[in-house]
Amino acid sequence: QTLDQVSSDIDLGDYPHYMLKEIFEQPQTIENALRGRLDSEEATAVIGGLNLTAQQLRTIDRVVLTACGTSWHAGLVGEYLLEEFARLPTEVEYASELRYRNPPMSDRTLVFAITQSGETADTLAAMRECKRKGHPTLAICNVVGSTIGREADGGMYLRAGPEIGVASTKAFTSQVTVLTLLALYLGRMRHLSYPAGKRIIKQLRDMPSKIEEALKCNDRVAEIAAKYAKYDNYLYLGRLYNFPVALEGALKLKEISYIHAEGYPAAEMKHGPIALVDEQTPSVFIVPKCGIQPKVISNMEEVKARKGPVIAIACEGDAEVARIADDVIYVPDVEEYLQPLVCAIPLQLLSYHVALLRGCNVDRPRNLAKSVTVE
Ligand code: G6P
Repeated sequence: QTLDQVSSDIDLGDYPHYMLKEIFEQPQTIENALRGRLDSEEATAVIGGLNLTAQQLRTIDRVVLTACGTSWHAGLVGEYLLEEFARLPTEVEYASELRYRNPPMSDRTLVFAITQSGETADTLAAMRECKRKGHPTLAICNVVGSTIGREADGGMYLRAGPEIGVASTKAFTSQVTVLTLLALYLGRMRHLSYPAGKRIIKQLRDMPSKIEEALKCNDRVAEIAAKYAKYDNYLYLGRLYNFPVALEGALKLKEISYIHAEGYPAAEMKHGPIALVDEQTPSVFIVPKCGIQPKVISNMEEVKARKGPVIAIACEGDAEVARIADDVIYVPDVEEYLQPLVCAIPLQLLSYHVALLRGCNVDRPRNLAKSVTVE
């Protein structure tokens, strides 16, 4: 099906573009991803479709997440979640690499293909290769009945509804939500205590309203976009859970605004990217409150000292960040492992508004396809 055929079936409502509509759907799509999957009694997630017994899952000692593009970024967040909650060594592989590489994988390795469309050629090939080698191979997928959805041994659907905009938005936050559920589930089979599980469930239940709150930044982001749309190079910097968010923010800007942007872990800045900083190169810092926030703030100061413009994504009321950054976009304060969900919102909106101001076609960017079914 072409984009025209699919999109003609889906109402834009009052939105000018699918991308904006899909960004604003996220409180609902996250709610859908969570529906029926939280068990407060047992303080765990309810995951029916893995098709593996608790005993089989208990013997898994390694997880491989494979994907492309935005789904690969969601996988990076998943790595941090699975390692923190379930203490499971996790690797994130580009599907295009994994399909031709031959990494040693023990028979206790569980593989997940993460994909919005369920049709990405490289992800499918990587999944088939892992299946052929006998690994349980599951999918985290949006499109029901897609090739990957059908061929996987099991998995979880995102329930995000059709995503039409070529740049993935709501699928990313749904993937991160589902990976959080998975980490909770596998964690509760292992090291995660009952109270810790309870706490995660409570925080997850609050996410749709936190996303609703985060979306209130839209007007502010549009103002900031007007100020910065003229620049041709950007850095996106974040640490820990917000490092993948930096990569994803940079990818969004590249995809739809055709602006060169690089995502980096903030502390790596001093090993190269800082050489790019000048008055013409804005840095977007993802710097919500977290254990190492002071270190990210000092990176921000280093950029300011070199006259680099700084846009910061920070928690509501963070005066310290506001003092240093040129412009701040506030998001609600949530636990560190949930920050990718709220911090992704202003970055999606920033790329949207910048693209509009530069006259780009936000729903159908040049040279890109929604689903890449060739190698
Ligand atoms: C294409 C799309 C991206 C997407 C990637 C992976 O490049 O333009 O938005 O992230 O494919 O797609 P998938 O459907 O496997 O998540």
